Amino acid sequence: MDFNLSEEHQAVREAARDFAENHLLPGVIDRDNEQKFSPELLRQMSEMGFMGMMVSPDYGGGGMDTLSYVIAMEEISKVDASAAVIMSVNNSLVCWGLERFGTEAQKEKYLTQLASGKVVGAFCLSEPEAGSDATSQHTTAIDMGDHYVLNGTKNWITSGGTSSICLVMAQTHPEKQHKGINAFIVEKGSEGFVVGKKEDKMGIRASDTHTLMFTDVKVPKENRLGDDGFGFKFAMSTLNGGRIGIAAQALGIAAGAFEISLKYSKERKTFGKPISEHQAIQFKLSEMATKVEAARLLVYKAARLKDEGKDYIQASAMAKLYASETAMWVTTEAVQVHGGYGYVKEYHVERFMRDAKITQIYEGTSEIQKLIIARELLK
Ligand code: CAA
Ligand code: FAD
Repeated sequence: MDFNLSEEHQAVREAARDFAENHLLPGVIDRDNEQKFSPELLRQMSEMGFMGMMVSPDYGGGGMDTLSYVIAMEEISKVDASAAVIMSVNNSLVCWGLERFGTEAQKEKYLTQLASGKVVGAFCLSEPEAGSDATSQHTTAIDMGDHYVLNGTKNWITSGGTSSICLVMAQTHPEKQHKGINAFIVEKGSEGFVVGKKEDKMGIRASDTHTLMFTDVKVPKENRLGDDGFGFKFAMSTLNGGRIGIAAQALGIAAGAFEISLKYSKERKTFGKPISEHQAIQFKLSEMATKVEAARLLVYKAARLKDEGKDYIQASAMAKLYASETAMWVTTEAVQVHGGYGYVKEYHVERFMRDAKITQIYEGTSEIQKLIIARELLK
């Protein structure tokens, strides 16, 4: 597989890096403390085209390939993993799902706004009793002829507070199990749709995560995505690409922590020499760099397979598994390389370590990625 980046890919990397360093880095520690992402930064990200990178220009998107998207995700995540997850959900779950499976009318009404970043989207699969076990949906969608009525609770929803458009999975025919699940486009402000509590999180604290409640929410029939009973396939197919985005986020977190550690190791002196001259630190740096590079190759491979229209289920699960385990390992080592300075906010690596943890959990835990990989190997 050829990983020579084209001039366009390099331009995407430079633009994303420049944006991250000049716009996201200032204030990143305050946003983490205050658990807030600024609307002005969101506006700037939209203006840069980061919210709908892969969407066709016909619907106001950037028309770029998945490789461009993961390169941008990597650069943004090197600085601010909260910004990256807002971007990832909007691009690879909400916009991609709508563009791939939506009707023309749905795309015109919703995708154009989402791709331009005018509004933010949310993807609502998880429930208090349906996380890894996603087929076990308790939220119901009763068919009333020209509309559905939704009842239930979704939790852990990224951008649950700031989003305007939500893709919601719900069970219509419980007797058919996962084949009875539907996916809907639900607008915020619909009667009976309530945004619940905001979670106080360990990491990615500037990204808002909420519980969403639905009580007799009417959803027009034309807002169903795909045929009756397509909702679980919709969610799984969309997550295959979403996982490449989260893998790129994990890669960026690891790469960012490594780069800071490399620089610090040349500056910090102990026993009369830079710590980079102690072999114990050199070995840490070597292992960090190797794992980051391996993660990058897996992420790029998954992106390339998707761009080439080939099967990427296993590749995306492998990329997410390896990149998220790498992010956790590298960031923990990055704190160690910094010694006591690594344990305080000013040096950034403690935030990277907290942010890394979520990449092993959302969009399918590491255990679920192993399950998916094993099923692909054995089928
Ligand atoms: N791609 C396409 N189809 C898939 C699929 C995939 N990756 N995984 C499962 N399916 C299909 C199966 O082919 C099957 O379809 P058929 O009946 O037509 O053959 C159907 O889905 C059911 O699959 P299983 O029988 O394998 O179901 P299961 O219950 O044994 O396991 C699972 C399914 C893989 C564990 C799945 O529930 C899963 O992926 N769980 C993790 C949930 C998850 O990733 N949630 C993320 C929420 S979004 C989020 O987290 C966003 C964020 O943080 C930012
Ligand atoms: P559980 O499924 O209860 O898992 C608990 C433990 O058991 C885990 O270690 C798991 O790996 C393990 N386990 C479970 N089943 C198996 C098995 N069969 N084999 C081996 N081990 C197993 N969801 C959304 O729908 N949209 C979002 O935008 C979203 N954003 C999120 C943001 C944050 C910050 C968080 C924390 C979560 C978010 N999620 C979102 C939910 C996320 O996808 C789930 O938390 C995740 O899928 C795990 O589900 P769970 O928390 O219920 O854990």
